[in-house]
Amino acid sequence: MAFPKQVRLVEMSPRDGLQNEPGPVIATNIKTGLIDRLADCGLGHIEAASFVSPKWVPQMGDATEVMAGLTRRPGVRYSALTPNLKGFENARAAGADEVAVFGAASESFTRKNINCTIAESLERFAPVVEEARKYGIPVRGYVSTVLGCPYEGEIAPDQVATVAKALYDMGCYEISLGDTIGVGTPLKAKRMLEAVAREVPMAHLAAHFHDTYGQALANLYAVLEEGVAVIDASVAGLGGCPYARGASGNVATEDVLYLLNGLGIATGVDLDKLVATGDWICGQLDRHNGSKVGQALGGNCQ
Ligand code: HMG
Ligand code: MG
Repeated sequence: MAFPKQVRLVEMSPRDGLQNEPGPVIATNIKTGLIDRLADCGLGHIEAASFVSPKWVPQMGDATEVMAGLTRRPGVRYSALTPNLKGFENARAAGADEVAVFGAASESFTRKNINCTIAESLERFAPVVEEARKYGIPVRGYVSTVLGCPYEGEIAPDQVATVAKALYDMGCYEISLGDTIGVGTPLKAKRMLEAVAREVPMAHLAAHFHDTYGQALANLYAVLEEGVAVIDASVAGLGGCPYARGASGNVATEDVLYLLNGLGIATGVDLDKLVATGDWICGQLDRHNGSKVGQALGGNCQ
């Protein structure tokens, strides 16, 4: 199959990127400053916050303030994670344009991450999707551990397909496939995608790859060839998962954009502004810039 002509980038850094930052809770104005800069780069979809329990993820405890403090840019979709109805109600009240439920292909990871079984998680998500439909709010569905689990190791592609199909049938408009701990390799990614695409149309699938083993760009190249046209990424490679020890951040948005530019695939995102944004947030957090492209083109970071 040919590469897509256009790719939609979904920016993860304000949520997946910052949720796992060690140290004190990051000031709300740094989070909103990041979101506003990302919107200014031309990113049309930004995962801005997470309405989860602040006891579980303290860094996301100011989700309502973040949603209130960002400067809405026309045409940009500001989304948020919502694990249950409580999260959904809070996200709706805060003005989220879109919400996301998040499950996993592994029982152990589901238990560690959201404290229930896969079956219970699906039961919890159904009323969220139903409520969201009433308000015309689109719901994205994540499946974590699609290429490996920190507790169970190998995950069968069919298991990923089963959970992805359940979320899609429930009403999630898009299923984002998460290599949560970044252990995948290109052939494995292709095999997994083939299994999922038998159950969910390719146009409704997104790739959400973490870069722990440095394979994320190679994996993305592999799934782009299969027809995936939505990619989740995080500026400066920020992030990790609090319930997956050792997992590093999402693939860096700058690196993905450089790859896509080289392939002649349109995104509408400005690379120079993105590099400057990666530099800026690393400066604010006094953090290493995890983007190779950011390091090559930027200037101010370690
Ligand atoms: P629980 O403890 O089983 O929940 O947690 P509960 O219903 O028994 O409630 C316990 C307490 O939490 C109660 O408060 C609730 O009100 C409160 P208390 O009475 O003790 O004061 N609570 C909430 N508070 C705020 N917002 C809510 C909410 N729900 C309950 N929405 C729960 C279950 C799902 C809440 C918890 O496990 C949780 O918040 N987990 C979130 C974990 C998380 O955010 N992980 C990271 C995101 S997923 C990810 O990064 C992967 C992804 O990037 C894809 C990939 O890479 O694979 C998406
Ligand atoms: Mg993630």
